[in-house]
Amino acid sequence: MFNKTDIAKKINHPIGDIILLNEIDSTNTYIKKNVSSLKDRTIVCAKRQTDGRGRRGKSFLSPDGGLYFSILIKSEESIKDPSMLTVVSAVAVSKAIESICHIQSQIKWVNDIFIDGRKCCGILCESGASGNGGKLDYIIVGIGINVIFPKCGFDSEITDIACALSEYTAVPEYSDLIATIFNNLIDYSPDFNPLDFINEYKQRSCIIGQNIFVLRGKERIPAKAIDINESNASLLVKYADGHTESLLSGDVSIRTR
Ligand code: BTN
Repeated sequence: MFNKTDIAKKINHPIGDIILLNEIDSTNTYIKKNVSSLKDRTIVCAKRQTDGRGRRGKSFLSPDGGLYFSILIKSEESIKDPSMLTVVSAVAVSKAIESICHIQSQIKWVNDIFIDGRKCCGILCESGASGNGGKLDYIIVGIGINVIFPKCGFDSEITDIACALSEYTAVPEYSDLIATIFNNLIDYSPDFNPLDFINEYKQRSCIIGQNIFVLRGKERIPAKAIDINESNASLLVKYADGHTESLLSGDVSIRTR
């Protein structure tokens, strides 16, 4: 499917290691378990995951044919602002899908990637402390892309809301996707101008100006998505009674239907 040399030769930044696995529980979990011995900018990629993890404790089904990989970031500048890396990763993936597959994708806050209203990619960013002091010193950016439509179809729960790149294009080289996403991510961090960047994020957003639902615990509150804050990527929403609120991605999630 792809090998280290294919990926390495397409990467144009310094890199740690590239670890390719046939099967693993989760590439994010693999990095967490081995974080002290792994170098900054290590990429861990698996052909399938047996316990793929999504946001909010959900599982992420990861059969053969998808692209599942995680990037370890240990540089201090990037770790200063994990919320920015979360949104940067969404733009990095959306741009890569555009340049490699010639497909226009959209970002659903905070970092789900959609094509024509169906999700093709989820991103799980996790930060942690490897030392005893408890100071955050690493971030893992875990990316799962449905590349080839799964042989047995998507799980019944997501069959209407998920899609695969292969429904829209010839199957791309996995090494192109990995390397381009990595290059895009590193291009942006840490010296990018947040204002330019957020504009790019907003242009790709499918929710600005849309009616959405804010999910908080069991509550499902109708609101309108107004804007994304350029300093912390929070989502400004307006509720039916006119009051507004800035939502941080860790606190709530949203639905478009
Ligand atoms: C989501 O949609 O909620 C996020 C899904 C993130 C899935 C990727 S696949 C690679 C990495 N390893 C995991 O266990 N999760 C992320």
